[in-house]
Amino acid sequence: MKTILHITSSARADSSYSTNLGKEIIDRIRKKYGSISVITWDLVDTPPPLYTHEMVQGFYTPVDTPNYRSIKSLAYANDLIERINAADMLVISTPMHNFGISAHLKAWIDQLVRFGVTYTYDGTGNRVGLIADKDVYLAIASGGMQSSSPVQDYIADYLAAVFRTYVGITKIQTYRIEGTVFPNFSPDYNAILADFPH
Ligand SMILES: Cc1cc2nc3c(=O)[nH]c(=O)nc-3n(C[C@H](O)[C@H](O)[C@H](O)COP(=O)(O)O)c2cc1C
Repeated sequence: MKTILHITSSARADSSYSTNLGKEIIDRIRKKYGSISVITWDLVDTPPPLYTHEMVQGFYTPVDTPNYRSIKSLAYANDLIERINAADMLVISTPMHNFGISAHLKAWIDQLVRFGVTYTYDGTGNRVGLIADKDVYLAIASGGMQSSSPVQDYIADYLAAVFRTYVGITKIQTYRIEGTVFPNFSPDYNAILADFPH
């Protein structure tokens, strides 16, 4: 049975379009694979910690240091890696806030990426991801029609760069729900997810 980890990061609870788009993606994963297990991780309910001096020192402590696993400032990051490793697929829901991802998701990404754990360098100085590749679905909600605007949508490119370069996850599909602040907005999930693989 496939395990899906759904990361949600909107403060708008059940009204969140990014969260609801993520749920629609999960419905289609269920249709494709049959029985699935879904674990929802709401980053607004339980916000990730922000970097502290102690935490940054922990992040750059070599992983083969004795008692590495018991470094207190790494507790959240270690739990995060366990949850990712236990999942077959990630669905990541984020609102667009000021052209970027939600602050909660940014703090989560900062806990995810770690030298020696999610990436290392090969003999020629290139970064190599260390986490097993898995499907990642991005569910991005924006008030405007951002993907067709002259102002770029930085979110999809940013998240893809992080997962490919610093984690080793390359199978990333992006879905957008746009124009959510327009009057009488009503999402057409079938159109948004028309190319979802059956
Ligand atoms: C603080 C804040 C900043 C926002 N910045 C943008 C933005 O830069 N571009 C945009 O198109 N919409 C922006 N919006 C609108 C949200 O992207 C939109 O309401 C979206 O539906 C939020 O996702 P959610 O429904 O999952 O919370 C912003 C909303 C808020 C509250």
